[in-house]
Amino acid sequence: MAEKEIVVLAYSGGLDTSCAIRWLQDEKNLDVVAVVGEVGQEHEGLEKVKQRALDMGALDCYVIDMREDFADNIVAKAIKANGLYENKYPLLSALSRPVISKYLVQIAHKHHAKYIAHGCTGKGNDQVRFETCISMLDPSIEIIACVREWPFKARTAEMDWAAEHGVPVPTTRKSPYSIDDNLVGRAIECGVLEDPWNEPPSDIYTLTVDPEKASDVPTYVDIDFEQGKPVALDGQKMEMKPLLEKIGKLAGDNGCGRLDMIENRLVGVKSREVYECPSCIALIVAHKALEDLCLERELLHYKLGLEQKWATIVYDGLWYGPLKEAIDAFVASTQTYVTGTVRMKLYKGNCTVVGLKSPYSLYDYGLVTYEEDDTFHHEAAAGFIELHGLTASNWAAKRLVAGAKEGGHVPAIFTDCE
Ligand code: ARG
Repeated sequence: MAEKEIVVLAYSGGLDTSCAIRWLQDEKNLDVVAVVGEVGQEHEGLEKVKQRALDMGALDCYVIDMREDFADNIVAKAIKANGLYENKYPLLSALSRPVISKYLVQIAHKHHAKYIAHGCTGKGNDQVRFETCISMLDPSIEIIACVREWPFKARTAEMDWAAEHGVPVPTTRKSPYSIDDNLVGRAIECGVLEDPWNEPPSDIYTLTVDPEKASDVPTYVDIDFEQGKPVALDGQKMEMKPLLEKIGKLAGDNGCGRLDMIENRLVGVKSREVYECPSCIALIVAHKALEDLCLERELLHYKLGLEQKWATIVYDGLWYGPLKEAIDAFVASTQTYVTGTVRMKLYKGNCTVVGLKSPYSLYDYGLVTYEEDDTFHHEAAAGFIELHGLTASNWAAKRLVAGAKEGGHVPAIFTDCE
């Protein structure tokens, strides 16, 4: 008998991807190599998940700890870029897809697999991200989107199919929510959240304390940044992964990092999303404050525009694309002097910057003070203002003359003054 072709499957151990193993074997006649990515999600034990794949006849199952790679090479870049999609969402799910895709492609190469399969739905962003990332890493790999292709759409039909095909059906009641989580937080959607009028129930959160119930005593933490990267907490040097865990815990315990928003998905749908991402939110707030201190005005303003672009292309799954790479190079250049310490106060849902210092601070006491040490050249202001407003005052003068003539257009600001 000819050897079967191999498909590498992104496996979570849940019902969808377990059905996917069987479906790929039975319906597609493929041998399955499963890959379980440890990205910091809550789980039942990944060895157990691996065993489930093997019990179902998977050729092999890799459990890969991607957390450090994720923290060092993905999240660190997101902090430097202040990556917030639609100015709010710290991209948590969008950030994990590129790293998972990278390992899927590596394993596909190792097994000379022609296919990579995933279990994302056809309505979300994640299918786009996986497929786009994989195609950029190896355009020759063909994608099988199991959930999009198979006929059982309703969960009950899927459970029936699973039972008929020897797929272990989870005995625990499925959570009414769709949750995606990793080292930097959780995304929660579906269930009662689908009505934007419903306040999120308090039991959906696991990483953040309800701000109303958080401690009455604030937590202060000093965050050291080196060239835009957080490197120490309260003076203690840390690698990116433990640092994210520690700041996430401190911020989450004080109720920081919750987000409830209407979001524009790439696939054209507006969705209601609830997130808890205490580490990223605290670090981005701190990092932005340090940039305010250390970046020259034109550079800071220009970067703000590119940050929006960066977040959107990352959200859209273009992590490995050329524009993202080029913006990263720009961002890296801006971070040369973003070194210093930010003191944060974490208190009942707020993370507030209360202290800033940097050897590269552009803050100049003499220029800003109103006290005796003032070095600002006040006389220069008059000429500066005259020339700064010259085009506009020239325009206004000419309009007034024109307005005096019959039929001339008089701007509303002039008639309003009458
Ligand atoms: N809307 C978010 C995003 O596109 C979160 C998606 C999370 N996935 C999930 N299955 N809950 O990045």
